[in-house]
Amino acid sequence: MLDIQNIRTQFPILAQEINGKPLVYLDNAASSQKPISVIETWENYYKTINANVHRGIHTLSQLATEEMELARKKVQKFINAKHDYEIIFTKGTTEGINLIAYAITNLIKKDDEIIISYLEHHSNIVPWQMLCERTGAKLRVIPMDDQGILQIDVLNTWLNEKTKIVSVNQISNALGVINPIDEIIAKTRQLSNAFVMIDAAQSSPHLKLDVQKMDCDFLVFSGHKMYAPMGTGILYGKQESLKQLHPFHGGGEMIATCSFEKTTYADLPFKFEAGTPNVGGNIALGAAIDFMENIRLDNIQQHEHALMEYATRHLSEIEGLRIYAEKANRAGAISFNLEGVGIASDVGMILDKMGVAVRTGHHCTQPIMAYFDIAGTVRASFAIYNTFEDIDKLVEAVQKAQRMLS
Ligand code: ALA
Repeated sequence: MLDIQNIRTQFPILAQEINGKPLVYLDNAASSQKPISVIETWENYYKTINANVHRGIHTLSQLATEEMELARKKVQKFINAKHDYEIIFTKGTTEGINLIAYAITNLIKKDDEIIISYLEHHSNIVPWQMLCERTGAKLRVIPMDDQGILQIDVLNTWLNEKTKIVSVNQISNALGVINPIDEIIAKTRQLSNAFVMIDAAQSSPHLKLDVQKMDCDFLVFSGHKMYAPMGTGILYGKQESLKQLHPFHGGGEMIATCSFEKTTYADLPFKFEAGTPNVGGNIALGAAIDFMENIRLDNIQQHEHALMEYATRHLSEIEGLRIYAEKANRAGAISFNLEGVGIASDVGMILDKMGVAVRTGHHCTQPIMAYFDIAGTVRASFAIYNTFEDIDKLVEAVQKAQRMLS
């Protein structure tokens, strides 16, 4: 049995009161809170070894380099990548997707096709639209049904030699739906030579990732949703896939040689890491991985699954409350509205007065909101430190909001 109360004591922010009420933090899909081990790792980096990496001969620079490369190895192990140089540090998921969408440009011709899904965050839509504008390629969108389940049979006819990349998320940030990425990857491999990219922003905090087993070309996620500092993120790329791509940013650290006539590029991973990285943040991301691995991913998954079941059961008892994608397999987040009663942000404001933090609005997924013909939803999202009592307080606050807005 996990001792959740003990885990909670490791998160100083959770001891706070908000609007005179104990904080119930249920906005983890937007950003999780940070344990003291991560905060102290970051602080100690700046107090004791702050220096730029890979450039200096001096002791602090070497220490900073060693610590950051150790963090890279922790990420490698966390997602079971084959090589540490397949791990690129980024500032988050958005940067990772933009990096690939830009770096792939030279491989895309007019009328080639890029496939995404209906359930994508804007960050997995817009970079591909920009790529299509640059190249004349076409964007195809896997449809979904009214339970937020992707209709992946279309892939049987869509995938062919024109398909250049399939980019989908593992878990929808807006609805919490777990997508059938194993089947999507298998179909893509079977019917095309396209790259596959997985947006793991919402799955890396909740599910065990294994990029070799998945057999994806690229996988991206953010540190800040999995207990690490903001401004950290990872792009994983299979060695042979990354090697086909042009660099994204030009600058220091990513070159092998540079003259006014010609520049040659550094080997992986540095070819994709121009400029000074977020050294302290990347090292603290390593500490966040230690935190998760000490608890164990299967324990995290089990606890959060129980929270999801409890929340689904108790929220669905509220008359007039609609849970979106209720029948789909979901993790991490539950999205709902009080039908005919105000708008999501009105509910969110009342919840906030009761100390309950949730996200309201379109969650950067306007196509999903358009599908359901709504402006937004109320989204409660979970982390390892959430309790059944947090869900009770959420339910109580939603009932109060319903009474106030009726
Ligand atoms: N992508 C984050 C969310 O879904 C910010 O809230």
